[in-house]
Amino acid sequence: MDLKQCTYLLVTGASRGIGREFAQQLAKRIKPEGSVVALLGRNQTLLEEVKGEILATVPDLAVHTYALELETARTEDFTRILEDSRGQHTFQRAIVIHNAGTVGDTSKRAKEIGDTDFLQRYYHTNVFSAISLNCEFMRLFQGIPKLVVNLSTLAAIAPISSMAHYCTVKAAREMYFRVLATEEGLASSQDTLVLNYAPGMIDTQMTMQVQREAHDPAVAAMFREQREARTMLTTAQTTERFIKVLEALKFKSGDHVDYRDEQF
Ligand SMILES: NC(=O)c1ccc[n+]([C@@H]2O[C@H](COP(=O)([O-])OP(=O)(O)OC[C@H]3O[C@@H](n4cnc5c(N)ncnc54)[C@H](OP(=O)(O)O)[C@@H]3O)[C@@H](O)[C@H]2O)c1
Repeated sequence: MDLKQCTYLLVTGASRGIGREFAQQLAKRIKPEGSVVALLGRNQTLLEEVKGEILATVPDLAVHTYALELETARTEDFTRILEDSRGQHTFQRAIVIHNAGTVGDTSKRAKEIGDTDFLQRYYHTNVFSAISLNCEFMRLFQGIPKLVVNLSTLAAIAPISSMAHYCTVKAAREMYFRVLATEEGLASSQDTLVLNYAPGMIDTQMTMQVQREAHDPAVAAMFREQREARTMLTTAQTTERFIKVLEALKFKSGDHVDYRDEQF
């Protein structure tokens, strides 16, 4: 895939962690003239910081920031943000990175997570918002080539103790994107490419939270040991691999590609 095109790029959870690095690295590779970058997160100060860092290296790029709480976001919020950032421009490609995510309450066992108020908020943040944003993205960028990326995880395909919340939303979210890839692959235009990218275990606030709160001591220890041994990856390492995966383009639409999959 040739990333150096006039591109619309939207990244959720761009204020820190993996999303921040993805936004910065992709912004450097797309064609500056005519491209647009939209950064979403809750923390406006951090989003402005990311915007400043991008503009310091690519001053000609149009970069927009939007503070949005995904726990309560509605379809019309996504429509407004997409329409506002897209403006009247035309693009060679539109990219959406569904990166924002939360790990849930890892102190609880699977048999203890039945609080429907919590489940509704948690699923809204991690599943419903991503689906709703994606539907608006597909509608508003109809007719131009699209790349849809979902930040997946090993936890979407394998059960992990302490992670009942997280495993279930990640599995649901990945299946949504697989169905999307199947349907769009059957469509006559076939202009949508979908990637479920599992970034490996990364040193971010999310993994710190698991290490601190997991009820299963073996899970907490696994995170702690990887951090202490420095075998945990950095956001820069996984972003570099992600960009190589895109450039090599060996995956099929809808595939689950892990950081460690050598063939990609
Ligand atoms: N870290 C890992 O080892 C790992 C492994 C596999 C997959 N992943 C996936 O990679 C993605 C990023 O993870 P990360 O480790 O970078 O996480 P992180 O450091 O905790 O960052 C999460 C991002 O999501 C945003 N966010 C969180 N809750 C939000 C909400 N309610 N509304 C709007 N935005 C919200 C945060 O922005 P604000 O605070 O500004 O809202 C932040 O930018 C997630 O989907 C995660 O499941 C991570």
